[in-house]
Parts: sequence; structure tokens; C-alpha cells
Amino acid sequence: MAKNSLTITDNRTGNTYELPIENSTIRALDLRQIKVEPNEFGMMTYDPAYQNTASCKSKITYIDGANGILNYRGYPIEQLAEKSSFLEVAYLLLFGELPTKEEGEQWRHEITHHTFVHQNVLKLMEGFRYDAHPMSQLISTVGALSSFYPDAKDFQDPDNRRLNIVRLIAKIPTIAAFSYRNAMGLPIVYPDNELSYTGNFLAMIKRMASPKYEPNPILERALDVLFILHADHEQNCSTSTMRAVGSSNVDPYSALSAASSALYGPLHGGANEAVLRMLREIGSVDRIPEVIKKVKAGEMRLMGFGHRVYKSYDPRARAIKTLADQVFELTGKNPLLDIALELERIALEDEYFAARKLYPNVDFYSGLIYEAMGFPTSLFTVLFAIPRTAGWLAQWSEMVDDKEQKIARPRQVYLGEAARDYKAVEDR
Ligand code: CMC
Repeated sequence: MAKNSLTITDNRTGNTYELPIENSTIRALDLRQIKVEPNEFGMMTYDPAYQNTASCKSKITYIDGANGILNYRGYPIEQLAEKSSFLEVAYLLLFGELPTKEEGEQWRHEITHHTFVHQNVLKLMEGFRYDAHPMSQLISTVGALSSFYPDAKDFQDPDNRRLNIVRLIAKIPTIAAFSYRNAMGLPIVYPDNELSYTGNFLAMIKRMASPKYEPNPILERALDVLFILHADHEQNCSTSTMRAVGSSNVDPYSALSAASSALYGPLHGGANEAVLRMLREIGSVDRIPEVIKKVKAGEMRLMGFGHRVYKSYDPRARAIKTLADQVFELTGKNPLLDIALELERIALEDEYFAARKLYPNVDFYSGLIYEAMGFPTSLFTVLFAIPRTAGWLAQWSEMVDDKEQKIARPRQVYLGEAARDYKAVEDR
């Protein structure tokens, strides 16, 4: 019978080592025994950008990148997008099961009753420059929340952990909306507890003079589905940041601020904003061949294309494309859609993209819907951060309970100077 192990021969010494295989992985620490001299440090793996390194065991999200499959806690994303709600999905990610009717009602009640922020949070946000990017405002304000809830450090206490998870999921749309109103110079709209999670967010963004805002049910549902699709995506850049920063035992507000910073970058959550800017710059369908030429010459990247894990169509992009049709029926078609569709058609036929398995990702179409819904481009990444808060917190909570985890501390391959004596300035 085949053995579940890996045999390694070190050709420097002729020594052979047998390493156990578990879940198609070997433990990196098992390589340490491989050495030439007994006092050597031992062998490590070199893996820049963690392209082939599992840093945790997780039960939350499953991705099969080759076949375009994404499941949360075993449930296919397509079924959740069709039948569930964002708050239900957040509960599922955090606690492992879909809530019963009572659990769901209790969860909704808790979230709804923690949406307000301390008035001093508003004062703090007023200090931003008029043109501060909403993501910068969100990152800083979420970090500042740790000073409002110093008790959040006691996250080993289950009630305390739950309370701060609820606070974060409840307050992030409020902070996001305030960052928008602040950037636009508009008065703040306080949360409306009679509305749904997404309905309330729309109200805080859009309400002007009327005392009550009635969200359009199609747009409210579309935003809820977009939130479901963005809620988690296993160990990506921002989630790994959440885990790494959280592994120092810092409070969840500080860790989540760091995760949001990671999301802000254009290669990650900032891509939705970058896609829109790119489509606007392209401007018309007849300029697409010129753009494709530039991409193939390595002069630019097609934003919203490619993914580290998906090597076939991103299932979230497929779901978003369907959603786009429903939204555009109501709002009118986004004029940039024709450019996006033609870009996708040409790219998918092109050998360059086929050879590299580059397909549209979640961000390729999401910005078009956000724009049609009336959100400004600078808010797109914030619209990603709101639902991802649930995923970050679920992953952080799993990490905190994982007895195998320690403070994150990668190794390096040192290529610098050997030890040498300090030189006085006149000798340099
Ligand atoms: N346009 C053109 N070429 C690309 C692109 C792109 N968007 N993405 C990758 N490539 C090429 C790249 O030049 C390289 O070619 P070669 O082998 O000839 O050097 C090859 O494909 C592999 O690229 P890579 O950079 O090694 O791939 P990666 O896994 O490190 O990067 C990525 C993944 C998402 C950062 C990258 O595909 C990219 O920059 N995409 C554009 C930004 C984007 O849409 N990001 C959103 C990701 S999905 C939402 C999220 O999770 O935040």
C-alpha cells in the first residue's frame, strides 16, 4: 500500500528523510532536520508572496480555483447569493451554521442596535481634509475605535468577543457612509433601525431633505447580494493581514484597520475603482485593440482580470454579471458596459490571456453596478470592506481559537553584507 509520506534525499550528504504528508502538505518545520553540519539552522522553504504555503487550517471558505468553485462553510456561493441574506451569511461565516429563525432574529437585533457611533468619532472624522479618500477615513476611523472600546483586548472571553464582532459589523456601514458624506461635504445621516442592513446603508448615503428614506427593493437586494459575494475569500492579502496582525494579540479594531489597509491597494480591493478608471480612460470600443496591445507588451495590466487562485472564471464575476442585468434594467445601462463586454470578449479569445489563464474577477463588473447605483468611484473599495469585515472577523476568531497558531513571524533568506566594523564618516 502506498505510504502517506514524502522521502527526500539530500544530495549534499546522501542522507534520506521521510516526512509525513497530511492534507497534501508537509510541515515546513519537518525540513529543519535536513542539514549538513549538526549546528546548522536547517532547511527552510523560500516562498515569496506565499504562493505555495498554507499558513493555517481553516473550516470557513473553500475555493477550487481550477474549477471556479467558491463555498462558504460548504454552501455554494451561487445558492447563498440566490437564497440567503448578507447578515445570515455573516452569521454562517462566523459561527459555522446558518442561523435558526430565532438565532437570525437575535443576530439582526444585535447588529441593528449597535449601528450608532460615539459622537467623538464624528468629531475625529471632521478633522480629515475635504478631499480625503473614503478608504483612508475608514482605515483610520476603524483603528481609532480601539480607543473607544479598550475592553476589546479581552477577546478570549466569548461574550466580549461576540460583542466586539457585533460592534464592528454594525458600525462599519455607518463609518463608511460618514466617510462619504464627509468627502462630499454633506450632513451626516444617522442610522435608521427600521431598515435592513443594506437599506440602512443606502439611506445613510442617499437621504437628503426627506425625513424618511425608502430604499428601492431591487437596489437593496442587489447590494445585499454584492455583500454576500464579497464576504470572504479565504487567505487573500487582507485576510492574511488580519490574521498576522491579530496573531500579536492586538484588539480586533486595530487588526481590522490593518486588513482594510491591505484591501485598499489596487491589486486587491482597490481594483474595482481601478477598473472604472481604466474603462473611462479607454473611452470607446474602437480603442480596445490598442489597449490589448499595450497589455501584451507588458505596459499595463487589465484591471479586474486575473487572480492568484482562480485559473478559470471567477464564480463571483459570473453572479455579478447576472445581477448587473437586473440593476441596469432599473437604472439604465452603464455606458461603460459595452466597453467592458467587448474587452472581455476580445481578451478571452486572445492567446496571451488564455495561456496565462486570465479571466474577469469579481472586480471587473462590480464597479459598473456600483456606478449605476449612484455610488462615486472613490467609495467602491469601501463597499468591498463593509461585507469583508464579516470574513475578516470569522478568520480572526478561528485563528484566535487555533492552538497551533502563534505570533506570525516569517523567516528570510539573508543576502546582505557579512558582519563588518563601523566606519567613521570621513572614511566612507
Ligand atoms: N493583466 C495583464 N496581465 C496579467 C494580469 C492582468 N490583470 N494579471 C496577471 N497578468 C500576467 C502577468 O503579467 C504574468 O505574465 P508573465 O508570466 O508573462 O510575466 C502572469 O499573468 C502571471 O501574473 P502574476 O502577477 O504572477 O499573478 P499573481 O497571481 O501574482 O497576481 C493579481 C494576481 C490579481 C494580483 C493579478 O492578476 C493582477 O494584478 N490583476 C489586476 C488587479 C486585479 O484585478 N485585482 C483584483 C483581484 S480579485 C479581488 C480581490 O481579491 O481583491
